[in-house]
Amino acid sequence: MRLDKLLSNMGIGSRKEVRQYLRNGAVRLNDEIVKKPNIHVNTDADIVTVLGEPIVYREYIYLMMNKPQGVLSATEDTRDRTVVDLLSADHRHFKPFPVGRLDKDTEGFLLLSNDGKLAHNLLSPKKEVPKTYYAHVMGIVTEMDTESFKNGVMLDDGYMTKPGILRILKSGEVSEIELTITEGKFHQVKRMFESVGKKVIYLKRLSMGPLQLDETLSLGTYRELTEEEVQLLRQTTNL
Ligand code: URA
Repeated sequence: MRLDKLLSNMGIGSRKEVRQYLRNGAVRLNDEIVKKPNIHVNTDADIVTVLGEPIVYREYIYLMMNKPQGVLSATEDTRDRTVVDLLSADHRHFKPFPVGRLDKDTEGFLLLSNDGKLAHNLLSPKKEVPKTYYAHVMGIVTEMDTESFKNGVMLDDGYMTKPGILRILKSGEVSEIELTITEGKFHQVKRMFESVGKKVIYLKRLSMGPLQLDETLSLGTYRELTEEEVQLLRQTTNL
């Protein structure tokens, strides 16, 4: 890869700013000052530094966000704030997008990445990646609902869902539940409860595939996935 491309891809600055660094002798390739922007870099073996700081090349980023309510799972919007607006410039630079959607009023686990292949696999209906949600539901959720979800329920558009595992944590005026589903139809959790005559009033995603929401992340914050977490995701989708 060309040196100037690598440096601008890694967020060092625009192509123009990168040229400035090069002219000023701030860039070293394997300890030698380099000034030519078009010099070739082997991203696996060469060591590039800018002002003494090593520049580690990477193509993809993987972020786990605790999405807050009121923010759209999109990359841009003319009216509302999006999850990408919550990222630092350093991370936005990689052009990540949300892997799947949570409703505007849903909180919790949201993966953002620029790895299109991984995203495609995680979202593919064939892979049946489980997602677990925690919800508050108006009214008493019963074992009959658990049974109905286990058999699949018919949504308002006639679609029959795959089996869902419903765990009742608290049954009462407002019930608390956890639901695991392996699909991602539009408003699926809310519509599954509507099919049994109940209304979800609070929804939070707890996990996606092998990854649990990191509860140390406060709403609206995020962190990069560890290498191990990325590997787990890859294994889930057999990449
Ligand atoms: N199901 C819903 O109804 N909403 C979400 O945001 C996610 C799953």
